Amino acid sequence: MDLKELKGSCFVLRPWVTEDAENLVKHASNLKIARNLRDGFPYPYTMSDATSWIEMILSNRKDVVYAIEVNGEACGGIGLHAMQDVYRFNAEIGFWLSERHWGKGIVTEAVGLLVNHAFQKYQWIRIYAGVFSTNKASMRVFEKNGFIQEAIHRKAVKKEGVFLDEYIYSKLKE
Ligand SMILES: CC(C)(COP(=O)(O)OP(=O)(O)OC[C@H]1O[C@@H](n2cnc3c(N)ncnc32)[C@H](O)[C@@H]1OP(=O)(O)O)[C@@H](O)C(=O)NCCC(=O)NCCS
Repeated sequence: MDLKELKGSCFVLRPWVTEDAENLVKHASNLKIARNLRDGFPYPYTMSDATSWIEMILSNRKDVVYAIEVNGEACGGIGLHAMQDVYRFNAEIGFWLSERHWGKGIVTEAVGLLVNHAFQKYQWIRIYAGVFSTNKASMRVFEKNGFIQEAIHRKAVKKEGVFLDEYIYSKLKE
């Protein structure tokens, strides 16, 4: 996918490159991040996880996946996963950020930039996410971007041995 760079006030959303692998390991290998994501995002996060993930992203033509670059380093990721069949006008949004940059409003701004861009440029009319019940920071990120909490999937998730409710947030194209 040919991605347009999106500029935020103190970060840039830009495509991943092979050379990001080292910084990906540095910032992603954190249990406080992994515990809020699917098991496909491992902890510890190894160099082999990083290189195979970047390789997979570079060959993916359907999804829109950016690195969040802060001070010249890939410090996080944000992306839209294209759904298929009758769901093909939906995309699932996901993101994470290095703990050293939490609480600065970066992901709130990044979600706004990406969602606006995606509704203009791609066919999607609904962008949604499932948030684990314990993840209040992500719920705030969605609320601050005008997403609506539309459902709670009870005990839909098992993470770290515990069943969790999953909160579904969505935003429709105006
Ligand atoms: C969720 C995450 C991306 C947020 O990134 P961020 O750049 O720090 O987020 P922002 O600074 O833009 O906003 C965070 C908001 O959550 C709030 N927040 C943070 N921790 C919180 C908590 N424990 N309880 C309630 N609110 C919390 C902040 O106060 C802020 O809201 P405010 O502006 O109303 O004060 C980051 O914490 C992260 O990478 N988490 C792990 C991965 C993850 O959860 N991914 C998303 C899965 S759905």
